[in-house]
Amino acid sequence: MAIPSAAQAFRRARPTVANTIAESPMPDFITSPGLFVKEQKLRPVGGLRGAIYSMTGGAVNMGPGLKQRQEEELGRRISRQLQGSYNTAVLSLKGGIGKTSTTVGVGLTLAEYRGDAPCAIDANPDSGDLVERALGEGIYQQSSPRTITDLLKNIESIESLTALSRYMHHAGRLHLIAGEQDPEVSDSLTAEEYLRIRKLVSAYYSVALTDCGTGVTHNAMSGILQSADNLVIAAGYAVSGAKRARSTLQWLASHGYEELARNAIVVITDKDEISSRVDKQAIQEHLAGICRELIAVPHDRGVADGDLVTLDVLKSETRRAYREIAAAIVDGYR
Ligand SMILES: Nc1ncnc2c1ncn2[C@@H]1O[C@H](COP(=O)(O)OP(=O)(O)OP(=O)(O)O)[C@@H](O)[C@H]1O
Ligand SMILES: [Mg+2]
Repeated sequence: MAIPSAAQAFRRARPTVANTIAESPMPDFITSPGLFVKEQKLRPVGGLRGAIYSMTGGAVNMGPGLKQRQEEELGRRISRQLQGSYNTAVLSLKGGIGKTSTTVGVGLTLAEYRGDAPCAIDANPDSGDLVERALGEGIYQQSSPRTITDLLKNIESIESLTALSRYMHHAGRLHLIAGEQDPEVSDSLTAEEYLRIRKLVSAYYSVALTDCGTGVTHNAMSGILQSADNLVIAAGYAVSGAKRARSTLQWLASHGYEELARNAIVVITDKDEISSRVDKQAIQEHLAGICRELIAVPHDRGVADGDLVTLDVLKSETRRAYREIAAAIVDGYR
């Protein structure tokens, strides 16, 4: 055993001030100072609780009711901080079923709640209208017509968000990459090109949504599926729409994307106000059994025109549905 020198023995025997602080347990009031202000009870908004709060000038605070607490929980889920960059693809086997409307509605909702701006990419090979729906046709026509094709042409030279921003369109805090409008060019977006865009976007955005074209076999699709962290499958109540949602999940599961199929969020949009002959409940139950989550978006005149989608003109049920989709998407980034 090594014998300590006289100096070492002396240092051990005579604790210094530094030694004493390091070795002795800290009193509680130093290690955990606690909060310097009392935690405030949340203020109720709306309803009887809100009215009582206002009438008494805040003296009687019954706290938020169940609905408000649920809304706050949704907000917390949507705004959860993420380590890294994630992507959700919005797809369907049937066209005209709500992919773009859902991408814009959910994108605007993510932009409203998240600390960082989300991005939406139009990868529709058939002259996608994502940016038109987010900006309104008039503003989009006036803005610089930069599309995904222009971005690809210059992708090597983009080394900052400022440079990337020149190829993006902005609907408030939702940043968008427009799809190619020339039908002769648009279907040429390859999987490899999509992956290059995705890689660039992932350097600057923690959440990206990709609005896909109809079907699962167009050129870019294998790149989209390879790099997607989760999927939103758009569906409708019309029997054909519901069947195609099931076929989409089956196709994914049998082509190596079991995980994506299992974790998919099916969004069923009542865009045609379907007749009472169709058993909505049965369709919902059937689809709910084969995906992670099923969320219904009600018919909404604010979306029905196929033009600009803005959250403030939507019914509260539609906004709520978009919030639930956004929360389910962020929950899936684990
Ligand atoms: N909640 C809703 N209520 C009423 N109409 C809706 C709703 N959601 C979407 N629509 C309408 O349904 C039509 C198709 O929607 P959308 O363009 O989003 O579908 P899509 O799947 O992206 O179509 P495409 O395959 O052509 O890209 C549009 O006219 C849109 O306005
Ligand atoms: Mg579309």
